[in-house]
Amino acid sequence: MAESNNQEVYRASTYAPVNIAVIKYWGKRNTTLNLPTNSSLSVTLSQDDLRTHTTASCSSSFTDDTLSLNGSPQDIAGARTQACLRELRQLRKDVEAQDPQAPKLASMKLQIVSENNFPTAAGLASSAAGFAALVRAVADLYHLPASPTDLSRIARQGSGSACRSLMGGYVAWEKGKQDDGSDSLACEVAPANHWPEMRALVLVASAEKKDVSSTAGMQQTVATSTLFEHRAKEVVPKRMRAMEKAIHDRDFAAFATLTMKDSNNFHACNLDTDPPIFYMNDVSRSAVRMCEAINFSHDKLVCAYTFDAGPNAVIYYLDEHENEVAGTFKGLVGGVKGWEGKRGQAVKDGAKLPEGTE
Ligand code: DP6
Repeated sequence: MAESNNQEVYRASTYAPVNIAVIKYWGKRNTTLNLPTNSSLSVTLSQDDLRTHTTASCSSSFTDDTLSLNGSPQDIAGARTQACLRELRQLRKDVEAQDPQAPKLASMKLQIVSENNFPTAAGLASSAAGFAALVRAVADLYHLPASPTDLSRIARQGSGSACRSLMGGYVAWEKGKQDDGSDSLACEVAPANHWPEMRALVLVASAEKKDVSSTAGMQQTVATSTLFEHRAKEVVPKRMRAMEKAIHDRDFAAFATLTMKDSNNFHACNLDTDPPIFYMNDVSRSAVRMCEAINFSHDKLVCAYTFDAGPNAVIYYLDEHENEVAGTFKGLVGGVKGWEGKRGQAVKDGAKLPEGTE
């Protein structure tokens, strides 16, 4: 809280990490509320590496709501951001109604300033960290008595995957059954310290903005892919339960099999979309081959790849295989500063797999 004059500025800052799904969300049954066609499950990466930092301020001296990202003004009037702010302001009004002494923050204009420390909109879950940080920063500013699961209902309306970035560890987003989305929430499957040996290596094949946004791509898939219907109805429900079991049992072989299968099934649905959507490229495929070669040479699964709506790879592995997995990829990308990995350690901008690596 801040300066003491009659136009006091109230302020709160927070970080939110990126999460990378191992069972992918793709498809909405309600585009306004961001209600998904299927449940999904993700691992939250270390926020030392890939994260959004957001500061939210409000004051009666501010004349407009404003939002900036990496120093550039953003459109705060978009329906998704407005949905989040409307919900947060309503909860603040409830607080103010309960406590007449509470400062009247809900009616003040907001300034929201965000910084990503990774490429925005390049398929690295930037909207997930972005909306999670925005919602948490404003919730902290407003001193809302809301749990991460309560906030996940709000962040989901900003970007579906954002609801999973409000928790650490292993997080499920249950699709829910209600039309109003009240049961479409994120919940913890296991905390990070349940399986602290898990590592994720992010390989940036391209930091360019992706061709087809997730929102547009998934709607096109829902509208045109028959494979997707099978995925949503048959494949994902069974896989969700199997993945939860793999995590509870700390069974890396099962975790890796499900992760790779689900990534491939998700990209197959994109290929089955009309017109087809290609998120993976030759560089992505070289990471798949590399993973396969590492697993083959160990005669067991020691690493698993997954790709979101872009060409960048995320490789999951256990700390005991740091040298074999991260070391091998490090050999490929060669002398990249900051590569040595703990969970979520990222290869930052500019680090590329060589083209055509097999
Ligand atoms: C491939 O959450 O970015 O990363 O809800 O339209 O904002 P919107 O989509 P978004 O989609 C993420 C899709 C994914 C899979 C996942 O994170 O589960």
